[in-house]
Amino acid sequence: MILKDEINRRRTFAIISHPDAGKTTLTEKLLLYGGAIQTAGSVKGKATAKHAVSDWMELEKQRGISITSSVMQFEYDGYCINILDTPGHQDFSEDTYRTLMAADSVVMVIDAAKGIEPQTRKLFKVTAMRHIPIFTFINKLDREARDPFELLDQLEKEFGIGTYPVNWPIGCGADFKGVFDRDKRQILTFNEFHRGQDRLSAIECDITDTKKLDELIGEYSRRDLVDQIELLDGASFDFDIDKVQNGTLTPVFFGSALTNFGVEPFLENFLKMTTSPLARNTKQGEVTPDSESFSAFVFKIQANMNKAHRDRMTFMRICSGKFERDKEYHHIQGKKNLRLSQPQQLMADSRQIVNEAYAGDIIGVFDPGIFSIGDTVCDIKHKVEFEGIPTFAPEHFAVIEHKDSLKRKQFVKGVEQIAQEGAIQIFHEPNTGMERVIVGVVGVLQFEVLEHRLKNEYNVEVIRSNMPYQFIRWIGNDDIDVARLNLTSDTKWVQDFKGNNLLIFTSEWNINWALEKNEGLILEDFSKN
Ligand code: G4P
Repeated sequence: MILKDEINRRRTFAIISHPDAGKTTLTEKLLLYGGAIQTAGSVKGKATAKHAVSDWMELEKQRGISITSSVMQFEYDGYCINILDTPGHQDFSEDTYRTLMAADSVVMVIDAAKGIEPQTRKLFKVTAMRHIPIFTFINKLDREARDPFELLDQLEKEFGIGTYPVNWPIGCGADFKGVFDRDKRQILTFNEFHRGQDRLSAIECDITDTKKLDELIGEYSRRDLVDQIELLDGASFDFDIDKVQNGTLTPVFFGSALTNFGVEPFLENFLKMTTSPLARNTKQGEVTPDSESFSAFVFKIQANMNKAHRDRMTFMRICSGKFERDKEYHHIQGKKNLRLSQPQQLMADSRQIVNEAYAGDIIGVFDPGIFSIGDTVCDIKHKVEFEGIPTFAPEHFAVIEHKDSLKRKQFVKGVEQIAQEGAIQIFHEPNTGMERVIVGVVGVLQFEVLEHRLKNEYNVEVIRSNMPYQFIRWIGNDDIDVARLNLTSDTKWVQDFKGNNLLIFTSEWNINWALEKNEGLILEDFSKN
């Protein structure tokens, strides 16, 4: 197959949801359709994301599992699909933000009884920044659910996007009768007999065929459905593929992942409506996926899969061209040519060495500690540098010091390496060294993970003093004398290790104060590099 065809058949997307909305269940059902797994219950690793601190230590032993579930590739109907799984636990949401940078579209799973939840809100914000297609799967229709019009209204109002229901639910919970496919004008019925079955056949039935509809879903549900479809056809957004592709219109699907209802129609429509690998921006201009020259960027680093060797696996999203196993590439930030060691591709529950991979694919390589999040690897002759992955604002801060001053070297190494992986962010007060490091995290669980890893992997015990700060802003002005800014006494000036100036605040009130009292001050809530 020629390069262009290989790339065009690729679909790379991330699934996001608030914990418990059904992301893992939906992923699993998609993999079943693709034949990538044989039985339900094979998608593991969710536990790492889901459980609290005490469990984490134990689960850390099984870290390999969460890696295999983090990227999954399978074939379906001629498409080559890469699903990027994202941890549901909010404490690891930074990992999720970065994963979104590697996706070309996003599937948002929403619990029909709960509607939009806090984590969905946060993740949507990041997705919207990228203007990529976003699909909505409203799940758990087999349970009591909120009114579907209300759910659409919430999506439109809160997210400021249009919605296009591809299908429409007929009742919910005990009265759930199935869905009506608006385009095909067919009904897919749901009943006890079908529960858990893999494939359902839609029954063609025109909305005006009262007799047949009554047989299928009963008179009561038929009346409701006819009224609702009339309303929907008259008032809802028109389908517009351009709007879907730029992320301003979300196709909405109703279903029940657990009972495998509505999953296959979702997959089929999704594959048609979503996009093949998208072009990406580099400092040298746009790189198109079908360019002959290979390029990729690092979006995830998973450390110490084998404690004895302190090894790390780095995940790269291929953005253009074809990757070949034995070829030499260039690592821009390391300023070195290299051969990627043991490149692997992950197929649901197994891993295999890859000889070639294409734009849209994700490869994992063993990393002796040379890569950082956002790094570029590219063709030796056609060097490009991707714009980097934004660093998102941490919300919890603590000062970390080593207990034993003889362990300073290991401490510095450990903290730096863990920060390089993107598991924590590190800052320091201007003009101070690495004795006292200010650590910023998105979720407090990351502090526990840091302490545990420093002890186990670097043999360093630390003292942690939590700080009262909750907000961080990067100073956007290039030439500014930070020391002379008029700030409240509980606002702190820190620097990241790239030398960028930041302010940390205890409240939004203090942020407003800084903006009001310092004309022209630019405060940004994520760093662009
Ligand atoms: P997550 O990855 O988004 O956190 O959600 P996950 O798939 O783990 O699903 C959370 C819970 O919701 C699970 O139940 C799962 O079985 C259930 N669930 C998912 N989809 C549906 C659905 O369509 N209908 C219904 N009724 N339930 C659904 P659990 O009891 O927490 O876990 P488990 O013991 O079933 O694994």
